[in-house]
Amino acid sequence: MDPPVSQNASASRIDVPFSVPFVHRLRFTQEVFGQHNDVLADLLDPGEEQLARVQFWVDSNVMEAQPELRDKINRFCERHANQLVRVGSVQIAPGGEEIKNDIHLLEKMLKVFNAANLDRRSYVVGIGGGAMLDALGFTVAVAHRGLRLVRLPTTTLGQADSGIGVKNGVNLFYKKNWLGTFAVPWAVINDASLLSTLGQRDFISGFSEAVKVGLLKDPTLLDLLCDTAVRIRQRDATAALPAIRRSAELHLEHITRGGDPFEMLEARPLDFGHWSAHKLEAMSDFELRHGEAVAIGVAIDTVYSSLVHGLPTAAASRVLRCLSDLGFVLHDAAIHDTEVLFGGLEEFRQHLGGRLTLTMLQGVGQPIDVHQVDCDLMRQAIRRVSEYARHGEDALLKDSC
Ligand SMILES: NC(=O)c1ccc[n+]([C@@H]2O[C@H](COP(=O)([O-])OP(=O)(O)OC[C@H]3O[C@@H](n4cnc5c(N)ncnc54)[C@H](O)[C@@H]3O)[C@@H](O)[C@H]2O)c1
Ligand SMILES: [Zn+2]
Repeated sequence: MDPPVSQNASASRIDVPFSVPFVHRLRFTQEVFGQHNDVLADLLDPGEEQLARVQFWVDSNVMEAQPELRDKINRFCERHANQLVRVGSVQIAPGGEEIKNDIHLLEKMLKVFNAANLDRRSYVVGIGGGAMLDALGFTVAVAHRGLRLVRLPTTTLGQADSGIGVKNGVNLFYKKNWLGTFAVPWAVINDASLLSTLGQRDFISGFSEAVKVGLLKDPTLLDLLCDTAVRIRQRDATAALPAIRRSAELHLEHITRGGDPFEMLEARPLDFGHWSAHKLEAMSDFELRHGEAVAIGVAIDTVYSSLVHGLPTAAASRVLRCLSDLGFVLHDAAIHDTEVLFGGLEEFRQHLGGRLTLTMLQGVGQPIDVHQVDCDLMRQAIRRVSEYARHGEDALLKDSC
């Protein structure tokens, strides 16, 4: 059926709504480069060419922790020589926030694409943490206006959250993700075996995003996280992997069925707790990991929701306990500089444009959009989270500060 076309009387204005069919491909596997694993090869469509042209990029810290990866990739390409050709050697990109804080690295990456003559049908396979994939995703999105990106996230945060999304970007002007685009990846492969070398801080980091998405969308996931938090912290795969998977699925559902994948509307529900998290990351000079800052941000907005929007105190208390059981320290020195921290509200508003819109909670699984913050009560929420971090539950249940 033809889309409705509206023309005004003089026909000098034509507005035609249109949509573009995207496919989001998400796979779960183990040992993606293993001998009998065809998950990646099956995703690479050579089109009219005989062979898919593929360039591999690996996070420097992943390569250091898993040096066998280079050989595994090379052998994988040899095994699938009838389907794909590796373009150039395996590339290494700096891992961690450093890559997002140095705009000159982008040009270096683009030069490598250009030297290899990558085109819009070429594939860039990125293997790394959320930061490296954010920067690589940005260069891939702007080179020739978009190459095909296959993400293999190597952190829990990447596999539960950032790797599934359609956002990429780098930090500029000391502001998180100031420069970036929306771009749907060709595919995302969550390979659980890639997580094995993660440091403990990074291992737990992804689960604050899982708590967030559970709180917003899926009380069952929140229950699962609360019940298994200690086992997750101990890296018990039977507890950690189902939580990562459910979080990834909810993310995928939000993007493909939520009606606003490119965040054109006012609300950004998945950014619950992020106005302060992003600011805390910058205030701590990126000492705090994104997931650690999100844990604090989620704790603050959860307590604020209980003070202002009717979230039961018991639910708030449970969330803080869950985050603590997962191993998060719900405190950072920056948290006390509330005036600077509140600057995060304005930065958040600017990033989105229009009026300030935050997601808060009336109950678990009951998000609401709000356009105003009561700064006194927000200060109180911050104080309570900070006291909880030092003194535990009793601090939270106190009636007033
Ligand atoms: N695009 C999005 O939608 C989105 C969403 C959430 C977060 N993010 C961004 O993601 C970034 C955080 O990502 P992250 O939590 O994955 O951290 P990260 O990418 O900074 O990785 C943490 C550290 O672990 C290293 N590392 C990664 N995988 C490893 C492995 N398997 N073994 C050993 N070392 C490994 C990295 O090199 C880095 O030093 C932030 O910049 C955040 O803003 C983006
Ligand atoms: Zn986040």
